[in-house]
Amino acid sequence: MSYQTIEVRPITGALGAEIEGIDLSTELDNQTFDEVHRALLENLVIFFRDQDLKPDQQIAFARRFGDIHFHPFMKGLDDHPEILELIKEEADTRTFGAVWHTDQMFNPKPALATMLYAKEVPPAGGDTMYANMYMAYDALSDGMKEVAGKLKTFNVGDRMKSHGREARKDRYKGSKAMQAKVKDPGDDVVTEAVHPLVRTHPETGRKAIYLGNHSQHFDGMTEEESAPLLKFFAKHATQPEFVCRFRWKVGSLALWDNRCTQHYAVGDYDGERRRMHRITIAGDRPF
Ligand code: SIN
Repeated sequence: MSYQTIEVRPITGALGAEIEGIDLSTELDNQTFDEVHRALLENLVIFFRDQDLKPDQQIAFARRFGDIHFHPFMKGLDDHPEILELIKEEADTRTFGAVWHTDQMFNPKPALATMLYAKEVPPAGGDTMYANMYMAYDALSDGMKEVAGKLKTFNVGDRMKSHGREARKDRYKGSKAMQAKVKDPGDDVVTEAVHPLVRTHPETGRKAIYLGNHSQHFDGMTEEESAPLLKFFAKHATQPEFVCRFRWKVGSLALWDNRCTQHYAVGDYDGERRRMHRITIAGDRPF
């Protein structure tokens, strides 16, 4: 089906499309919003260029997709708690998100989608890569699909704490390397979850591999037992044929579907500054 109100230009054969002909600072009429939504479902990650958005306008666009998902470990902006400001300063050597992952997988109801808006970008580097998890599932043999269909992953938000080391909230206290303000999730916030390795997308009905760096082991298996197969799926799912890479400019906005993608923030710009405004949208329990 073609688009009437927007232009949709795929950037690779795997996933990702740039959307043209839209100003996200205005309230989108229903037809335009429906086409943006369809472009997201068809392309898994969509990109908008040259947007000039105030925080309230970014939040309003995000809310068209659902409620806001609040991060358990990180605090939003004081006057706009929905927005996490991710800043990598010139002196930072760690890059937030520089592992393949899907957002909030350690939550029983992980984030449906994530919206990232570029405020400051380095002259080169700092791209984000995305991988298509439908393709990762479809490319498995029938035998491996059967194995994968029976597996569940155990996912943790605080991997070091789960190995008896310092908790995430203490590790990052006073540290600039966190690149966002830190908060203590409190004892009653759940930051561990079991999910099916093969997830059915609730809107498209398609099956996708659901995996990321938060996946610690398969449910009912030890880490040692799980490691070889986890490694296989992680490598298989992020092969170059399933990946696109986005080059940011100030004013670019990316919106990705966490239910059928993984992403990776490339940390190749030490000595430069990058500042992004991130909003995550609340999702459902994977099945
Ligand atoms: C993230 O993992 O959400 C951040 C991605 C990025 O900064 O490119």
